[in-house]
Amino acid sequence: MSTSNYLEQYDAASDTEKSVLARRWIDTEPLPFFKELRQKRPILVTPKFTLVTRFDDVREVLSMPKVFTVEPYVSKMADYLMMHDDDALHTREKSLMQCMLNRDDLPAVREMVANVSKEILDNANGNVELVNSYCRMVPATLVREYFGLTGAKRRDLIEWSYWNQVDTFHNQPFDLLPPEKSQYIIDKHNETSKELGKFIVELIARRTLQVKAEELTFSTLVRLDDDIVTRMLRTDYPKQLDFDIKRLGLNAGGLLIGAIETTAQAVAQIVQYLIDRPEWLAKAKLAAQQNSAAEFDGYVWEALRFVPITPYLFRTTASDYAAAKGTDHETVLRAGTHVLPVTLSAMFDERAFESPDEFIPQRNWYNYFHFGFGSHECLGRYVGREMIPEMVHQVLTREGIKAKSPIDYKAGPFPEQYELSWTTQ
Ligand code: HEM
Repeated sequence: MSTSNYLEQYDAASDTEKSVLARRWIDTEPLPFFKELRQKRPILVTPKFTLVTRFDDVREVLSMPKVFTVEPYVSKMADYLMMHDDDALHTREKSLMQCMLNRDDLPAVREMVANVSKEILDNANGNVELVNSYCRMVPATLVREYFGLTGAKRRDLIEWSYWNQVDTFHNQPFDLLPPEKSQYIIDKHNETSKELGKFIVELIARRTLQVKAEELTFSTLVRLDDDIVTRMLRTDYPKQLDFDIKRLGLNAGGLLIGAIETTAQAVAQIVQYLIDRPEWLAKAKLAAQQNSAAEFDGYVWEALRFVPITPYLFRTTASDYAAAKGTDHETVLRAGTHVLPVTLSAMFDERAFESPDEFIPQRNWYNYFHFGFGSHECLGRYVGREMIPEMVHQVLTREGIKAKSPIDYKAGPFPEQYELSWTTQ
């Protein structure tokens, strides 16, 4: 399809076909489709969802949590802070957790990620199935060793994160899944949530005893002298903060859910993007050799702009709202409808990204939407900003790194298999 006739075909389609067509283009040819929308119809209201495609309008939607709410998360989360919009609980618990994830830890986090990554790759002897042995395994190790969710098998941590993420981000009305598939995902999510819940209860009981006895156990992999769950349990919270042991456990579980599948998808896709572009791979490796983490990381974030973990975020409109007011595409977004701020499209809008189709490392970090924007901006963003580039770095600096075949998604939303090889001495 040429870049200029999506809307012609869209306008000619029946109402029932319109959302299906838009959904198909989002999934199969997002960049040219969004480019045409940005130019000709920046806010596209389909019968099932609305696409908001320009940079400013995406920021506008994500800046108004009471107007554009996270209602689509509500049925997927057991009262976790992420399903709360701009209220006391969200402010309180996000602030507490940001404080626990002290940014002073980050150099040690990066070193830990480097060590864990290196060990996996050294043991792989020049051949690795990257997704399961590495992309999921490294964050699962961090969840255990830094976040402090000890005593679970990493395989289980990975599965619990996986089903939560599939259900929350890929089982929404605008995914247009057949009902039986949608129900299957909900059932898997419920099943794994029960297992996670049992684990968290047991974890908190066990770690409370340990903290009380000040008999903490440390893994040799961890260079930190504590972990996040330990910190949370060592802290005394005044009753007025409403942060009881149940809230504490829920927030510990949130750390796990947020960390694994997001990181895994980002790392696999960035590695593939750079391996497939030898010119940029060579430049990124040069930056790594010159020991310039900041420069290397710029390649990673620019690669993620082309292959982000999701093309859009999603909200429900709480009250009628005229978006892009005063422009020629001002559009009233109706209460009760789903709005998709298309962050992938916003990251290709020339109003904020010069020569957007070109790969330009070291762009202005603040314009990326890799970790969201506004009041729901990612809690783990600082950890992610170290973990993702360090994991990519450890793979790409292996001598003669090559892919045997492209990432296999096995018809699902996440990378499932990616075989790499490299030369060993
Ligand atoms: C490292 C561990 C991580 C943790 C603990 C974590 C946790 C969270 C939490 C709790 C939120 C909701 C914040 C709120 O509602 O106020 C969130 C949002 C988000 N996270 Fe993360 N996350 C992690 C890693 C990542 C990674 C690696 C990515 C992407 C590469 C990512 C992308 C996002 C995005 C895009 C949002 C915004 C969702 C929205 O606006 O609806 N996260 N994260």
